[in-house]
Amino acid sequence: MALSIPTTSMATTTTITTVVISSILLLLPFLPTSYCSENYNTAIPGSDIDLLEFPLNLEYLEAEFFLWGSLGYGLDSIAPNLTMGGPPPVGTTKARLDPFTKDVILQFAFQEVGHLSDGSGGGRVVVAAVVGVVEWQRKWWVVMVVVGWKGGGGGGDVGRIVVWWGGGGDGGGRIVEMMIVWAIQNTVKGFPRPLLNLSAEAFGNVMNSAFGRALNPAFDPYANELNFLLASYVVPYVGLTGYVGANPKLQSPISKRLVAGLLAVESGQDAVIRGLLYERAREKVQPYGITVAKFTNRISKLRNKLGNAGVKDEGLIVPTFQGAEGKLKGNVLAGDQNSVGYDRTPEEILRIIYSSGDEHVPGGFYPKGADGRIAKSHLPSA
Ligand SMILES: *[C@@H]1O[C@H](CO)[C@@H](O)[C@H](O)[C@H]1NC(C)=O
Ligand SMILES: *[C@@H]1O[C@H](CO)[C@@H](O)[C@H](O)[C@H]1NC(C)=O
Repeated sequence: MALSIPTTSMATTTTITTVVISSILLLLPFLPTSYCSENYNTAIPGSDIDLLEFPLNLEYLEAEFFLWGSLGYGLDSIAPNLTMGGPPPVGTTKARLDPFTKDVILQFAFQEVGHLSDGSGGGRVVVAAVVGVVEWQRKWWVVMVVVGWKGGGGGGDVGRIVVWWGGGGDGGGRIVEMMIVWAIQNTVKGFPRPLLNLSAEAFGNVMNSAFGRALNPAFDPYANELNFLLASYVVPYVGLTGYVGANPKLQSPISKRLVAGLLAVESGQDAVIRGLLYERAREKVQPYGITVAKFTNRISKLRNKLGNAGVKDEGLIVPTFQGAEGKLKGNVLAGDQNSVGYDRTPEEILRIIYSSGDEHVPGGFYPKGADGRIAKSHLPSA
């Protein structure tokens, strides 16, 4: 979790609190009157919240797909509270993976669980009161006492001392920043897991659309590790283009930090998937006799078509003009003519993940549509 709260036990904070408590009386008069996190909702603009919530749709999908693929069970077993009571995904099943691929996918799965917690898909939210703020050893220290948790239980932590710190010595700005960090976990409330269709048929339909004909036998993402990696090629990349697209629209530095951190790991997942597939790019996917590279090229072309906003997606082996500096056919990572990551708007993403090419027409992996203000604003019922 990128924004987890650094905590220390009572014992290790004793020295700090001694320093702090001696300064409390001096500092409190200069601080705003209340530090209950509820009061900081306004710190993150509403437009940021919408943009931060939107990717939860994809994070839910990835968490379930990777958990089920590697373990044979999902969020309902691993972290039921993160589902916020949303319906279980349909069509999920354990994939037949070799130990290496299973190991990698399981790591992705738990990374997604962390992302959901951070985006606050029902994660626990601490409500605390500030005891004091002090500059000590060239750092700002904010000492708070947990007075309660919102959601997810955790009552046992009440009374625990939480310490935050940040680089000091450059004025009060640091304190403001830490207070805003405090707010995001309370402000981005998330939404329940949307209904997800992760059936072999849903992935099979994507592949059929990519090739413009029904593959025979139908493509099964869960049949073996190569199929599972090809199915995985379908997902994190879409999320990462969304993060690139969201970043310039964000206003708060804290939102930008969160999105940059999520982008970093999503891009990493995409790079690992592409890297593993690139090693096998010229191998034929059986029983179709179609190369791995061609699968990726077709999937990317399909996404460009559905997104309806030009070329923002490239397969593993491309015409030379699309490779790095227009010099190479190998394309282990996708990027624009300067090898800068492509961006997509939430609407482009909805067109792709609904498989409908239309953000108003749910389907594909989201039979009832995605959630959050942005996605819902395009649904007929909204
Ligand atoms: C999940 O939520 C329930 C009900 O809010 C709560 O009792 C339980 O402690 C929570 N579990 C975890 C692991 O947070
Ligand atoms: C899931 O997708 C498959 C393939 O499109 C479809 O046949 C099935 O009815 C879908 N299930 C739900 C619950 O939407």
